[in-house]
Amino acid sequence: MRIDVLTLFPGMILPVIKESIIGRAISEGNVTINVIDFRDFSTNKHQKVDDYPFGGGVGMVLQVEPIVRALRSIEGYQEALKIITTPQGETLHQSLSESFSHQDHLIILCGHYEGFDERVRDYFDCEVSIGDYVLTGGEYAALVIIDSVIRLRPGVLNKDESHQDDSFSEGLLEYPQYTRPRVFEGKDVPEVLLSGNHQAIKAWRDHERLKRTKERRKDLYDRYIKRHK
Ligand code: ADE
Repeated sequence: MRIDVLTLFPGMILPVIKESIIGRAISEGNVTINVIDFRDFSTNKHQKVDDYPFGGGVGMVLQVEPIVRALRSIEGYQEALKIITTPQGETLHQSLSESFSHQDHLIILCGHYEGFDERVRDYFDCEVSIGDYVLTGGEYAALVIIDSVIRLRPGVLNKDESHQDDSFSEGLLEYPQYTRPRVFEGKDVPEVLLSGNHQAIKAWRDHERLKRTKERRKDLYDRYIKRHK
């Protein structure tokens, strides 16, 4: 998979993608991430990429031209899935990440608090928000998308990092996990987990997933029950 990120702040993306599982996926050749500063595509000698809004109003607006020029500089951009990060987009959820993970090429434009010229939208396929709050820029959102997508690619996670039991895989939250010590400050590990009885452990985990989902995410629980009726 290849991911191109269009941003005005490459320094917010580059150090983060070098780390941890994404860093490993890059060095093992499972994914290529290319960060493009669309300021380099400014037509202005001062490398300006924003201007005053037509019709007046406070703030500046990102111009369409540098963004489209940057987009067109990317090899294979026509076939790529082109995403804008913006609080106005569809809220990211696991099945959206899954559908992105099946693509060969993603291009992600990081929106900016200033907003962008409406015509930018005509050059992209979809808009994604990571939640109902406003960030100063779309870089954090791009990183969230990249992380949630890359870990689903074949060969990225080791067997012991599997995503099969993830919260949201199957639409339920994860069951509680414990590790050593068996007792900490009087708090015991549930007996069943020490029993060695795999069937009983599975039954306990299934029960806990349902219970936790019902308590914390009634919306997910109701959907799950409806699907499994
Ligand atoms: N840019 C600013 N806020 C955002 C959000 N919540 N999701 C995606 N991009 C954003």
